[in-house]
Amino acid sequence: MGVKEVLPIFPKGTTVDAANHLVIGGIKATDLLKKYESPLYIFDEDSLRNKAREFQKEFKRLYPDTTVLYASKAYINRPLAKLFAEEGLGIDVVSGGELAIAKAAGFPLERVYFHGNNKEAAELEMACDYKIGRVVVDNFHELEMLNQIAKRKKIKQAILLRISPGVDPHTHVKTTTGILDSKFGFPVQTGDAEEAVRRAVKSSNLNLIGVHMHLGSPIYEHEPYELGVKVALEFVAAMKKKHGLKFEEFSPGGGFAIQYLSNAPIPLVSQYAKTITVAVQSICKKLGLKLPKLVIEPGRAMVGRSGVALYTVGSSKSIPGVRKYVAVDGGMGDNIRPAIYGSLYEALVANRVNASKEEQEKVTIAGKYCESGDILIKDITLPKLMPGDVIAIPASGAYCLSMASNYNASLKPPIVLVSKGKSRLIRRRETYADLMRTDVIS
Ligand SMILES: Cc1ncc(COP(=O)(O)O)c(C=O)c1O
Repeated sequence: MGVKEVLPIFPKGTTVDAANHLVIGGIKATDLLKKYESPLYIFDEDSLRNKAREFQKEFKRLYPDTTVLYASKAYINRPLAKLFAEEGLGIDVVSGGELAIAKAAGFPLERVYFHGNNKEAAELEMACDYKIGRVVVDNFHELEMLNQIAKRKKIKQAILLRISPGVDPHTHVKTTTGILDSKFGFPVQTGDAEEAVRRAVKSSNLNLIGVHMHLGSPIYEHEPYELGVKVALEFVAAMKKKHGLKFEEFSPGGGFAIQYLSNAPIPLVSQYAKTITVAVQSICKKLGLKLPKLVIEPGRAMVGRSGVALYTVGSSKSIPGVRKYVAVDGGMGDNIRPAIYGSLYEALVANRVNASKEEQEKVTIAGKYCESGDILIKDITLPKLMPGDVIAIPASGAYCLSMASNYNASLKPPIVLVSKGKSRLIRRRETYADLMRTDVIS
């Protein structure tokens, strides 16, 4: 694909300067590497803030009573939590760790929703102690445990039930969650969802106020949302009649796509908003349900496009008639997605963006980890690469650093926030001392 087609996958405003260098957030990518060293993740602040505003604007325009939560599993640290709090978002957490980060960042705790299919007692204690907004209860074990904890603490915890509507969102099998054969949620089909409502409304210290579903991620089609909303709301209408379910909130989850490849466009936020809000409004009307608060949970779409991974080229290996591998100083340790999902990415050479056809070649970008599967991009045509060249991979803001590891005792890269020609470190590079911090020497 040409540079012209790939640039729109980078943060808005990314350009190529007169010296043929990539400029992100008003700063040359190569200057950022000089200052912060390689490898490096860039988050574009304007993209983050604009996306938070776009989600709120597009949903509230059609459905004023919408709450937008950032699904923090896509990536969270304290500076990012602060930024999203400033933008008026709520936050969805799935662990005590994410909750601890939100609290430490001063995130308004009434705007926190706690998800997860196996929350531990200590995590539920924490949620109650912090007086978070909602616990999204996933299973019977949790329902009972949370009621007991809330009883001991003499509180009534507001909850949603996560139901599994049995709708296939047609995405990667490993990120499909709303089908029957999933570890998440109470299936509607088996009767478990009804049983959960029956038990929850009778639980003395739980205040059941609605239902939640999350179909999977990323979802490129509209139909799964329409179908999922229909199944969920028909379930709600039946449960209202049968068990007196209170219905104040409904969440169709997240799953909104971002563009990873230049030839694979995605729906606009406004189109997702239209699909979901029209479905909720029309089905509620048909079923005689009062419109609930709508809660949406974008993770990938909130941060994905703002992030760019920068790597420096090192060794290479040509296998005549087979392929040429070019290795960079990162890989599966900071982005495991190609290895576990077969995810595809585009890239540009940040210090030589445009090149004539004769100056290009097809290569496979390999990581530095001791694993044959550590391939970031297979078969991509780029300007001929030399040691020291800088590879920029766009759409790297979500599910890269949040899934990062210290495999091979390697150091997780830093993150720099860029905006209007200025840069600010929001996560420092790890050190070898960090790697040994938790060792116990006796
Ligand atoms: C309950 C829930 N909500 C929201 C999300 C965020 O999904 P995405 O990042 O695709 O928007 C997830 C992702 O796993 C999820 O499990």
